[in-house]
Amino acid sequence: KHNKNFRDNSIPKECTEGVQRAIGKPSGSMAITRKIKKNNYAIITIAISKIGGIITMPSELERFNERMQAFFAPLWPGEEKPLVLGEGCGDRPPVMLIGEAPGEQEAMSGRPFVGKAGKNLDGFLTVLQLNREDIYISNVVKIRPTKVSEKGRVSNRTPNREELALFTPYLLEEILLVQPKMLVTLGNTALHALLGAKSTIGACHGQVLTAHVQTDKRAGDFPLFALYHPASIIYNQKLKDVYQADLERLHSVLAAQ
Ligand code: URA
Repeated sequence: KHNKNFRDNSIPKECTEGVQRAIGKPSGSMAITRKIKKNNYAIITIAISKIGGIITMPSELERFNERMQAFFAPLWPGEEKPLVLGEGCGDRPPVMLIGEAPGEQEAMSGRPFVGKAGKNLDGFLTVLQLNREDIYISNVVKIRPTKVSEKGRVSNRTPNREELALFTPYLLEEILLVQPKMLVTLGNTALHALLGAKSTIGACHGQVLTAHVQTDKRAGDFPLFALYHPASIIYNQKLKDVYQADLERLHSVLAAQ
């Protein structure tokens, strides 16, 4: 429909075969083209899911990301505030890791948990015996919250109320699209976004809790495992040990699932 130059011979052979298999019609691109000209999207969609990779259409997650970009792009005019989107396995991953917000490295690269945070993530993945691409990685707030010192030095800060109110509904939608088998929150910000501010990391860490995630269209309950944020344990050996013990517990929980 969108490609005016669409011609019979522009359809790859694998594609017509895939469509043929999907709709059970005789082979030959004419039959397929006629179907397509009738704008029969259901058939096209079935065919695409069968032959995956030859034609790519935006997934629900991609459309969600586009919607989020369109919403946030005009919000901070004149400020460099690129969105750092979630990434990884977006279809029922064993873990959806949720951090607070991107830092400098993340904002520069456009990817969550790179740089120093990426090193922490490597340790996390090693204990869980997972690869980065096996899980889905995101943040509550998807811009880098910053403050500027009197000397003009820019540094990270905790997201403020306005940022949390703007981004949390998108996080809930993202979770419902990704459908992770386990939510893993890092620190209080992510925990509060999902369980409310009364649930503190001190009381909740290392336990499997339940997050009820609801938007105006969908809802679902997800197991949630709360961890301290690695950034908060750097200078505290006791918390480091607690974090490590929690991580090992999470490994056992995932292995038993
Ligand atoms: N980087 C992220 O993407 N999120 C965090 O919470 C910290 C660092």
